[in-house]
Amino acid sequence: MAKILFGFLPPLSLPPMGRGQMLAKTLTKTRDPVAICDGGRGQTLGKTPLVELRGLKKHYVLKKSMLEKLAGGREQVVKAVDGVDLQIFNGETLGLVGESGCGKSTLGRTILQLHPPSAGDIIFDGKPIHDLKREERRDFCRQAQIIFQNPYSSLNPRKSVRQILALALRARGLSDPNLQEEEIRLLLPRVGLSEAHIDRYPHQFSGGQRQRIGVARALALKPRFVVADEPVSALDVSVQAQIINLLEELQAEFQLTYLFVAHDLSVIHHISDRVAVMYLGKIVEIAETEELFNDPRHPYTQALLSAIPRVDKEARSTRILLTGTVPTPIDSPAGCAFHPRCFKRKGRICEEQPPDLVYDSSWHGVACHACQML
Ligand SMILES: Nc1ncnc2c1ncn2[C@@H]1O[C@H](COP(=O)(O)OP(=O)(O)OP(=O)(O)O)[C@@H](O)[C@H]1O
Ligand code: SF4
Ligand SMILES: [Mg+2]
Repeated sequence: MAKILFGFLPPLSLPPMGRGQMLAKTLTKTRDPVAICDGGRGQTLGKTPLVELRGLKKHYVLKKSMLEKLAGGREQVVKAVDGVDLQIFNGETLGLVGESGCGKSTLGRTILQLHPPSAGDIIFDGKPIHDLKREERRDFCRQAQIIFQNPYSSLNPRKSVRQILALALRARGLSDPNLQEEEIRLLLPRVGLSEAHIDRYPHQFSGGQRQRIGVARALALKPRFVVADEPVSALDVSVQAQIINLLEELQAEFQLTYLFVAHDLSVIHHISDRVAVMYLGKIVEIAETEELFNDPRHPYTQALLSAIPRVDKEARSTRILLTGTVPTPIDSPAGCAFHPRCFKRKGRICEEQPPDLVYDSSWHGVACHACQML
């Protein structure tokens, strides 16, 4: 059933700074040391986490050129994901936002073991992944899938739809060609394609249709968890809505759990049950979607949400423009990584001490000294 996706976002009025500070008081009042940095809201919320991350890090060591080696400079390390504690609950969509290069894709790919983590634990369905035996690991790889951003480059141009899907089915252990054929013919209409498409090659499809093939490929493995890494950003607006609606229908039908990465805040607002905001490899704020959009507490989230285009003049005047240079994950600032750009900076504590992610009683988590001081 088609749903209207765009234009649904109500005009959001950001809380003026004073209100943000007042709300931060509630946070401190209800601060519970047990909740700090544990990401452990599962029991409290009465939900079961399918994926749990504990102190997850992914650092890339950059290779030095011969000249750099001779000059003897120190090794450069990109801290793409730098200590993430997070739970993703069964059947939910967790939206992940943050500016380009903050580590969203790396986080998704590290969870899926496409990149080995540098430190920390990934727990899937109650079991740490690094403890899994070979067979269990294969099963995890089947159950945790990815839908890529670019439907043009994520499909092999030399393989037909039948071959692309058969490959995924084989990875699931379905090797009988007749059963594969049967399954492919069931799968195609499920993602809005027809059996007539089965022998076509990726270049014979539109962008939206290619993304449907990408969705079918992920679904062929009967996953439980899907990382959707900007699955609609390469598509035009009307096609975006179709793919989002498809993902929602499939989630309801197959009880899928999504980690949904996007830049478009209206898409995130529409699809997410909860939203996590990432800045330089860390989660700086996380809350249920309405809570986060109505009451952003971290200065970075406030700036991010203030950039949503508004029609009313008053709301437009509350746009927060960040100053200062955008730091890189190679040499991220000490203390709170956001401090060089922060309009609420509190002096030495912000410059020297990284803030913990602290949850209030409604499990709205914020990593900010200013919020925790009031
Ligand atoms: N294989 C790699 N080697 C070295 N650095 C990497 C590698 N992959 C990613 N990075 C770096 O890690 C950081 C995070 O990259 P990532 O792709 O996760 O960001 P992102 O939040 O997904 O950005 P975007 O919104 O542009 O997709 C970036 O600084 C990037 O340059
Ligand atoms: S910890 Fe300090 S610098 Fe960081 S966001 Fe909060 S107020 Fe700003
Ligand atoms: Mg990315």
